[in-house]
Amino acid sequence: GSRTASSLILVGGGGDLSMRMLLPSLYLLEADGLLPDALPILAIGRDPDAEGSFRQRVQAGVERALGGKPDEEIWRRFLARLSYIATDATSGEALARLRPAAGERPVVYLAVSPDLYGSICMALEAAGLAGRDSRLALEKPLGRDLASCEAINEAVGAVYAERQVFRVDHYLGKDTVQNLLALRFGNALFEPLWNRLSIDHVQITVAETEGVGERWPYYDRYGALRDMVQNHILQLLCLIAMEPPAEFTPEAVRDQKVKVLRSLRPLEPQEAARGQYVSGALDGANAPAYADERGSPSGTETYVALTARIDNWRWSGVPFYLRTGKRLPERRTEIVVQFRPVPHALFSGELEPNQLVISLQPSEEISLRLMHKAPGLARDGMQVHGLPLRLASASGGRRRIAYERLLLDLIKGDPTLFVRRDEIQAAWRWVDGITQGWEPGSAPDSYAAGTWGPQNASEMIDRDGRRWRD
Ligand code: BG6
Repeated sequence: GSRTASSLILVGGGGDLSMRMLLPSLYLLEADGLLPDALPILAIGRDPDAEGSFRQRVQAGVERALGGKPDEEIWRRFLARLSYIATDATSGEALARLRPAAGERPVVYLAVSPDLYGSICMALEAAGLAGRDSRLALEKPLGRDLASCEAINEAVGAVYAERQVFRVDHYLGKDTVQNLLALRFGNALFEPLWNRLSIDHVQITVAETEGVGERWPYYDRYGALRDMVQNHILQLLCLIAMEPPAEFTPEAVRDQKVKVLRSLRPLEPQEAARGQYVSGALDGANAPAYADERGSPSGTETYVALTARIDNWRWSGVPFYLRTGKRLPERRTEIVVQFRPVPHALFSGELEPNQLVISLQPSEEISLRLMHKAPGLARDGMQVHGLPLRLASASGGRRRIAYERLLLDLIKGDPTLFVRRDEIQAAWRWVDGITQGWEPGSAPDSYAAGTWGPQNASEMIDRDGRRWRD
């Protein structure tokens, strides 16, 4: 078994992710009394000048997350365990000074450029902070293809055993994402239908209204496929498609996810559509083109749609349509499980197939479309209508930040919701097949900001006689 961490060391502790997500999440865990009493949080940054403004910046981040002032008493408790240390995380000598505060079971969270992961691991080892009871959490991007991902895994693996490595995918911390497992394996209703005999197809959409904006120096090297599909969307696909694990343990769950990834069929060229936004209108305002944000033309896609096929007994012949894009008309993350139509229509009126919609954003809820008789005295036979049935919605309590759950699991040492090395390898192998199919020099099609992506994405699904749920 694993033991609770003796300290949390945030490398990149003054950076954007720490300020927006990690430190506010830790504050919220503090507020709920969920952090172990003796857990110092050491935020490491390069900039010595950042120390003076550190607390104000953390407070600003916490206030943004809370939508108000933090509770004084809790805030005082939180500050008592939090410190900012300006030091070079690639120097073993510099890191050795953290030893007394870090204790025997430090958990180190890397929220800096992955180019530094290898040298930081070596420095941690030299400083005596990478012992057998320590753990390491890694933020994305873990490479931009299988080879660069493996280079990072190798460098990290030279210092840490795989059981100590926690690869973060924040989608796995979202409540609704975990709820997928409860829905599938906590009900007798769905599982017998959860296969090619009853399901026509699945759609996974992650639509964002935001553009790339200031993030283009990162984004331009990656694009929508690597930024969103390789990690978040494939994780959703795995949870929808996996076989029931033998037990709810980290290895049993992850074994089943890997099997799905390994069963993904390489795509045909016409099964992938790419787009990049040009200027348009969104929410009544003008939105600039990606090329203008970047300052020059680029071949990077800001939208991608794929037809994924899983070659196994359960899913043979059931396409999984995946799409994600920036500057789309609305923020919407959802999974649509579309069942087959009834074999013979008895009633007048449009019969629509049953549909289970699991939405993560803007609100977390699950709904099921059922056909039922419309009330009243219909003349020509029975009129059948769609009835959306809400199974569950976010509980009365506040909606947690995905990182709260992940940080807690990391501190306790539960890797279930983190990505294993063979899992990320299998994901990259499939994604590499897609990028290799893109002709060198070929460019994504354009779509106007505020529209649902390029024409070729609709054509892709039209060819199969299906439609995106818009
Ligand atoms: C990040 C991507 O991993 O996920 C971003 O880098 C994207 O481009 C974000 O906007 C989406 O996350 P969420 O939780 O807001 O859906």
